[in-house]
Amino acid sequence: MSSLSRRRLLGSAALVAAAPSLPRPAIAQAAPVRIGLILPMTGPFASTGRQIDAAVRTWLRMNGESHGGRRLEVLLRDDTGVAPDTTRRLAQELVVRERVNVLAGFGLTPLALSTAPVATEARVPMVVMAAGTSIIVQRSPFILRTSFTLPQQTMPIADWAASNGITSCATMVTDYAPGHDSEAAFKRRFTERGGQIPLELRTPLRNPDYAPFLQRVRDARVQALFVFVPSGEGANVMKQFDERGLAQAGIRLIGTGDLTDDDILNEMGDPAIGVITSHFYSAAHDSPENREYVAAFRQIAPNMRPNFMSVGGFDGMRLIAEGLRGTDGNTDGQRLVDAMRGKSWMSPRGPITIDANTRDIVQDVYIRRVERRDGQLWNIEFDRIPQVRDPGT
Ligand code: PHB
Repeated sequence: MSSLSRRRLLGSAALVAAAPSLPRPAIAQAAPVRIGLILPMTGPFASTGRQIDAAVRTWLRMNGESHGGRRLEVLLRDDTGVAPDTTRRLAQELVVRERVNVLAGFGLTPLALSTAPVATEARVPMVVMAAGTSIIVQRSPFILRTSFTLPQQTMPIADWAASNGITSCATMVTDYAPGHDSEAAFKRRFTERGGQIPLELRTPLRNPDYAPFLQRVRDARVQALFVFVPSGEGANVMKQFDERGLAQAGIRLIGTGDLTDDDILNEMGDPAIGVITSHFYSAAHDSPENREYVAAFRQIAPNMRPNFMSVGGFDGMRLIAEGLRGTDGNTDGQRLVDAMRGKSWMSPRGPITIDANTRDIVQDVYIRRVERRDGQLWNIEFDRIPQVRDPGT
């Protein structure tokens, strides 16, 4: 049924309801709005899928299922996180067979990039809840992002390093698009501020062994090492950093908050204490919205601590609901995208805006230090850079 005829039906039903003397025809229920949620629920990046899935369910529990007069229905698909063709095929099936009104999820950049043409062709909004390479939002006018971008998260730690006595720093990033974005942003800002980068390392995305790379960092006698690795990998880096004795050699570990991911921070133990990162979300963020979110998330997923990926999923649901409210439940793709642009609200992470022009997220970035409190490790925020936009777009 077209949205126009659906509106007509609803309109005449309202008239009938207002005239009780007329016989009442069956009133058509507006069909649910279908959200095709594609996540890595298995494979090496399953923690991202688990986190976002739990956050989506948390959002529905906290806010109800009905928005803009329509019920939200989520269709979850596992793309295993490593095969862009699989993600694209699942998106096509969701659009063609399941007639979803919105695509959402996308745990890694290559998976979001491969799906962008499906969103464009089908004119279906695509809400990127996880992936963080700058270019993604430019790949389709139907893409909006509720996660983050690597340059947005990296610039503040480069500034922090330059302002805190670090003059020589090696970089180690995962060798794919978000790592390249992060490396370029760190290099640009840190060297602009007078810092030197004598060693730039790229580690493989699949089955990385960080030990030989960290040995080279140790031999380079730098003051610090900047790291970007995708969510889930931080504990391996931390273990090798410790075992290779880099801290004893006087090398400080800094990075984006992907490194000290709340999902696995507690497993990292003492070697993580004192690590400084910049990022948009900490489970320890001190606000009423975050306390409410963490408590509700824990009811849905008692054995998990919400991480930054989860918040991308939580806010992604809010964005879809805001869009539907803006269109009065109309699911025309262009109208939905237009209704979602420019929206602002208070997220568990702090205030956010979906930029009306770029469709990308603008948010506060925090500088955090890992500390032990009440027997657990937390990213404790101690500085805030307000409303950072992606410097790459
Ligand atoms: C990405 O592939 O864009 C990505 C994945 C995990 C992260 C950051 C970026 O932690």
